[in-house]
Amino acid sequence: MQKTTEPILISPSIIAGDLASFGTVAEGLDPAVVDLLHMDVMDGHFVPNLTFGPGYIAHLKRHCRIPLDVHLMIERPELSLEEYLSLEPWCVTIHYESTRFPVRLLSLIRNRGVKAGLAINPATPVESIADLLPCCDLVLIMSVDPGFYGQPFMETALPRIEKCAALIRGQNAAGTLIQVDGGIHRENISRVVRAGASVIVAGNAVFKGGDIHAAVRDLKKGALG
Ligand code: DX5
Ligand code: ZN
Repeated sequence: MQKTTEPILISPSIIAGDLASFGTVAEGLDPAVVDLLHMDVMDGHFVPNLTFGPGYIAHLKRHCRIPLDVHLMIERPELSLEEYLSLEPWCVTIHYESTRFPVRLLSLIRNRGVKAGLAINPATPVESIADLLPCCDLVLIMSVDPGFYGQPFMETALPRIEKCAALIRGQNAAGTLIQVDGGIHRENISRVVRAGASVIVAGNAVFKGGDIHAAVRDLKKGALG
């Protein structure tokens, strides 16, 4: 295990909050505390759940000073990628399992000045994305099968994060961030950070208590442990 030197960014997943009133909530969020907002876009095909699309995110953006971290859990992201890029988010992450054209799509994202993210499900070998790392600004290691918030963290994510960190080091791609998503809480955040992740998605852990800022601060404290 090696300690990451990157600052730890917390990215609350808004599907664990009240989407109907999230605009008002977003207006009160302090960018000095909440680093990113994680948008889980689900299409009912790639994952067995349906959330929101670019229209909802565009409305939310008007209420929000926090950079957007867009996680596309959709089949054939090439068909709607442009709509997400036009929102000028911090990052757009596509799934390795969702497209036959990851190189083209990651390049398109990067060329628009947006961080290019590539996610892998727990069943996808980490080595599968080795040749794609030069096209990635961020790799998202899923620590649950995607589709729902509130699922338990899969311990198998830890060696997978370590393996990914080793691949990144091996390619001298030091700027490539590792994100982890699914089941992260105060109790396990320090272990994912020590394994090499620096961008931490949290749904339940941030929204279940009702005080978003306190929960994010608590996770940051836990990350140092
Ligand atoms: C799962 C989503 C996650 C999830 C995180 O498909 O990609 O972002 O909402 O929520 P928790 O932290 O509750 O697992
Ligand atoms: Zn997500």
